[in-house]
Amino acid sequence: MAEALTQKTPLLRHNARMNQDPEKQAAPDADTTHFGFRDVPVGEKQKLVGEVFSSVAGKYDLMNDLMSLGLHRLWKRHFIATAKLRPGQRVLDLAGGSGDISRLAAKAVGSTGFVVLSDINAEMLSCGRDRLLDEGWGPQVQCAQIDAQALPFPDRSFDLVTIAFGLRNVTDKARALAEMHRVLKIGGRAMVLEFSEVQIDALKPIYDAYSFQILPRLGHLIAKDRASYQYLVESIRRHPNQAALTELMQLSGFEMVNSHNLVGGVVAIHSGFSV
Ligand SMILES: C[S@@+](CC[C@H](N)C(=O)[O-])C[C@H]1O[C@@H](n2cnc3c(N)ncnc32)[C@H](O)[C@@H]1O
Repeated sequence: MAEALTQKTPLLRHNARMNQDPEKQAAPDADTTHFGFRDVPVGEKQKLVGEVFSSVAGKYDLMNDLMSLGLHRLWKRHFIATAKLRPGQRVLDLAGGSGDISRLAAKAVGSTGFVVLSDINAEMLSCGRDRLLDEGWGPQVQCAQIDAQALPFPDRSFDLVTIAFGLRNVTDKARALAEMHRVLKIGGRAMVLEFSEVQIDALKPIYDAYSFQILPRLGHLIAKDRASYQYLVESIRRHPNQAALTELMQLSGFEMVNSHNLVGGVVAIHSGFSV
């Protein structure tokens, strides 16, 4: 199901339950969904998101550091510290990209634990897999190319399922959350780290100016790709805010759902338990 980090070979794509066609089932009563500020046919969004991440994969880590002035590292450390992982636990990192969350989780669960770094996009996942290989991680970290909307794992397999800066890009968020809930052990926890709605009025105009004026230009200058960073900014605005995501998690079966804001709500951590 997941592949051991043995060599930098092409990744095998796991299509378990993909015949359910998550794109078509994403919103049975809707023909369109949003891709940034554009409305697109539901079946096209995943392909468009795929093009964004295939395009930015090579510069993804550099751009993250530049755009957040390094803050994303602190957010991710705080996120995993909040999870209170223990040695020996099993973690599934969805939309894991270049592997920051998986690496932190692997440190926390130690050699007796198990972490799956997963992503739908082969280019992003290869970056993560290669970085973890270069760092010498052993068999306790494996990787898998999978869609968060259709997880190829049995029920109740993991203690923690994370999705960091990934849920925003998923077409059917409710379905991904339901899948996260399904693969969690009883008492297990799902955690979502995502951009959210700024709650401090004085910060809003500064954040908007930075997002719409600076970020796409930075994308153009450094990654030679303005459109992908325009999508990033727009997708943040279309993502459910703190209250809406809390409700969505509750509707997906999670209990004790809570959220807390970082940097006044620029980013929020949502957490819920399977009981
Ligand atoms: C902004 S990156 C986040 C990467 C990493 N988690 C981090 O925090 O740096 C978003 C990731 O979501 C992945 N993604 C988008 N749609 C997905 C889906 N349906 N299932 C799994 N991964 C998905 C993309 O390929 C991309 O690697």
